[in-house]
Amino acid sequence: MPATVIVGAQWGDEGKGKIVDLLAQDADVVCRYQGGPNAGHTVIVDGETFKFRQLPSGIVSGKTSVLGSGCVVDPEVLLGEMDDLEQRGISTEPLRLSGNAHLIMPWHIALDGASEKRLGKLQIGTTRRGIGPAYADKAARIGIRVQDLLDPKILRQKIETALAEKNVWLQKVYEHEPFELEEVASRYEGYAQRLRSFVADTSLLVAEALDAGQRVLLEGAQGTLLDLDHGTYPFVTSSNPIAGAAATGIGIGPTRIDAVVGVSKAYVTRVGAGPFPSEMDEQVGAEVRELGQEYGTVTGRERRPGWLDLVALRYAVRLNGITSLALTKLDVLSAFDELQVCVAYRLPDGSETPNFPAHQSDFHHAAPVLETVPGWHESLDACASISDLPAAAKAYVELVEQALGVPVDLVGTGAGREQVLAKR
Ligand code: IMP
Repeated sequence: MPATVIVGAQWGDEGKGKIVDLLAQDADVVCRYQGGPNAGHTVIVDGETFKFRQLPSGIVSGKTSVLGSGCVVDPEVLLGEMDDLEQRGISTEPLRLSGNAHLIMPWHIALDGASEKRLGKLQIGTTRRGIGPAYADKAARIGIRVQDLLDPKILRQKIETALAEKNVWLQKVYEHEPFELEEVASRYEGYAQRLRSFVADTSLLVAEALDAGQRVLLEGAQGTLLDLDHGTYPFVTSSNPIAGAAATGIGIGPTRIDAVVGVSKAYVTRVGAGPFPSEMDEQVGAEVRELGQEYGTVTGRERRPGWLDLVALRYAVRLNGITSLALTKLDVLSAFDELQVCVAYRLPDGSETPNFPAHQSDFHHAAPVLETVPGWHESLDACASISDLPAAAKAYVELVEQALGVPVDLVGTGAGREQVLAKR
């Protein structure tokens, strides 16, 4: 598949890093098209764990790794991850940064935290990495971009202009300390020195790779239900994780995308606030949290586990044009005698629907229609392909395929790169 998008089909944390890493073995270029250091991608290779917030997961495999224009970049986090990788003997030379990507500045982080604090009980539960404020400045056309790092004079000027406004806002609205021009400018000039050589025309790079018949993976961060336009607003991120955004976030036409792999856990988790119809009861949820180690990669926060939600997955298939699914962490469900699957929502008027509600109040009040299915209660360690799965596990996978009309081509049975089963 020359251009394949890998997209989270739930609320993020589906295990995309691992699937990207696996598919990256056969790819030439791996790109991230949106998001910033709010992402948490974990890749385990030969027992060694790599956790990325900002870098594309493909970097571990030595592939050309692109941060596209749809991303927001925190240079401090990026350089920290690059240094860490270099120390572990992995070259960061193949990294390419779009000059059009926006920079996360210190005031974005301060404003993210201050605004969440002010919202109190109404807070979104952001990662507090400055994502929302950075994308807001991008939309308001006052952002500072990666290409501004190439010219120290322009960089300083833009920081000065931004600070003139941000400091007033921070001090007057949030009673936050102001930022010093000299301190910020010299810090970002330092980042500029180190990042300059990685800045490239990544739209052209990807187009030329495709023209040359190379294989390109387009890696989404977060997930479908965190999409700014189509997710569970306002409990969403400030960019578009859905597959269509891969085209804008990289700078290629939508006709160049050949396949969309949706990644879903065999259950669901979500972090932060917001309605969650298939949320498990506390005791089962706590068990799944421990078994699946469901704690945020970026923030360490507890994730809220829920039963597999076919209504939300059906929505993800529709929004992304998913052509194939990867179902991760099936092994976590091996602990249970029986499982529940959410097959429909019951709405406040008593009707049942297989479709994700278009209006927030319907979603907020939706009750899950749960179907009980048998568990398999045995280890999946010995399985070498999907056909080796115990009968009940195979039936679980088939239930998903039939409900969604999309093949499940990959099944995750553990944390390592090799613990992914394929059909053939
Ligand atoms: P932000 O992206 O930091 O602004 O956070 C907005 C919402 O997206 C919050 O509910 C976060 O918990 C959620 N979020 C952001 N990134 C991730 C992720 O990588 N996995 C899961 N949730 C995320």
